[in-house]
Amino acid sequence: MRLFFALWPPAKTAHALAQWARQLQGAPTAEENIHLTLAFLGEAEPGPAHNAARRVQARRQALPIEAARYVKRNRMVWVGPAALPPALADLVHQLHKSLRDAAFVLEERPFAAHVTLLRKAPPPSALPPLTPLDWPVNEFLLVRSRTSPRGSTYEPLERYSLA
Ligand code: 2AM
Repeated sequence: MRLFFALWPPAKTAHALAQWARQLQGAPTAEENIHLTLAFLGEAEPGPAHNAARRVQARRQALPIEAARYVKRNRMVWVGPAALPPALADLVHQLHKSLRDAAFVLEERPFAAHVTLLRKAPPPSALPPLTPLDWPVNEFLLVRSRTSPRGSTYEPLERYSLA
């Protein structure tokens, strides 16, 4: 299965982000699909991934979404924190370490906290102002991704509460 770990926003947060994205051209991420990837595993077995995630002991946190960016290279619009918050860095560090200890191979490049809101977006003349919001993070998820020509569908497999 194609697997990844992610944060999923509460409906209110997802709605606010989808509303913001509606001001832009491109293929918007469906509101229910808006997420922030913590670790991308690719084709993997869920059992060992689950065992690795269970060992993570990280804190609940409020994730500030305050920056928006157009990425010309892949024609994406994303939002995220302006700088990686220490609480999210700790969660990601623990999760990556636990996965690597379990022999998962992760990307070498540093983690970049981003939430993709549009794909296939033409260069905008300017990004609309983003009212900063705090995304309450109480859990993270192991998710299965299925891709088809009509887009991706995501199926949560497990949820891990934060303390
Ligand atoms: P993206 O939004 O930047 O494309 C499910 O596909 C999630 O995993 C998406 O958040 C996607 O990020 C991310 N993802 C897909 N392929 C990836 C890869 N090869 N490396 C890292 N993240 C990837």
